[in-house]
Amino acid sequence: ASELKGRDFLDLADFTTEDLKKLLALSVELKEKHNKGIPYRPLEGKTLGMIFEKASTRTRVSFEVAMNQLGGQAMFLSGRDTQIGRGEPIPDTARVLSRYLDGIMIRTFGHEIVSEFARYATVPVINGLTDLHHPCQVLADLLTLWEKKGKLQGLHVTYVGDGNNMANSWLVAAPKLGINLRIATPAGYECDPQVVEQAQRLAAYHGTELLLTYDPIEAVKGTDMIYTDVWASMGQEEEQRLREEHFAAYQVNKELAAHAKPDHLFMHCLPAHRGEEVTADVIDGPNSVVFDEAENRLHVQKAIIVATMV
Ligand code: CP
Ligand code: NVA
Repeated sequence: ASELKGRDFLDLADFTTEDLKKLLALSVELKEKHNKGIPYRPLEGKTLGMIFEKASTRTRVSFEVAMNQLGGQAMFLSGRDTQIGRGEPIPDTARVLSRYLDGIMIRTFGHEIVSEFARYATVPVINGLTDLHHPCQVLADLLTLWEKKGKLQGLHVTYVGDGNNMANSWLVAAPKLGINLRIATPAGYECDPQVVEQAQRLAAYHGTELLLTYDPIEAVKGTDMIYTDVWASMGQEEEQRLREEHFAAYQVNKELAAHAKPDHLFMHCLPAHRGEEVTADVIDGPNSVVFDEAENRLHVQKAIIVATMV
């Protein structure tokens, strides 16, 4: 059992540099095992419940496959079809489900929902995306960056677009791994102010650069990696048109990417909208690693499951 056994995985800020490096190393180990066809089934007899109050392709499938490969089972629970959708209190749901399940993954809206759930659950709770954070995705992004660049310390990462859950999770993770982070958002779409404060403290402590700007070119200049995400996240569908106007100057296209290092990587958590936040020639071009990145969701989530549930 690891020292992370029993821990929740809600926010990367809750983990030390050492914890994050161990999770990445374990991800590599489990990925190698899987690629060599070596069976590893420490979750035999265990069940992960997966509560989804928003849509998902990658998260649902990769968690389900992860549990299957580790010898356990995953159970899909839609918010709509459980009593959660009819208003059963979160503390009750968390305590009941903890009597059946060995771990619970939740994808929902407010971050306070997973926090409350975790407070009452007696099994590990994994954040599969909230409006505030997407820690599993950033761990997969870090693994991809590490594999492609051979290091993390000292790299420059640039996020262009909405100051959303992806940007917030990058804010708290980057300093802990010695990564210099620049974020360019339009005015009115900045990252969460409390997360920014947290990140500024972390960057000062770890001695990393942190730049928050409205200028995408300044942010991309000389960077090792460009990251973007959708302009309208799940739950913001009705703002789509307005956001298209406000974000037009923040599209990741060839002209913008030309300011990065020639060997820069392009990443996106997916799903992507070609012609909106990214052009097809960038996301389908030679610098893009989005499908390796998506694959890595599986490997890092196996590491999270093994570290917290075995
Ligand atoms: N990147 C990501 O979390 O994708 P899904 O919404 O498909 O799970
Ligand atoms: N920011 C996006 C990420 C999807 C994986 C959303 O929350 O919808």
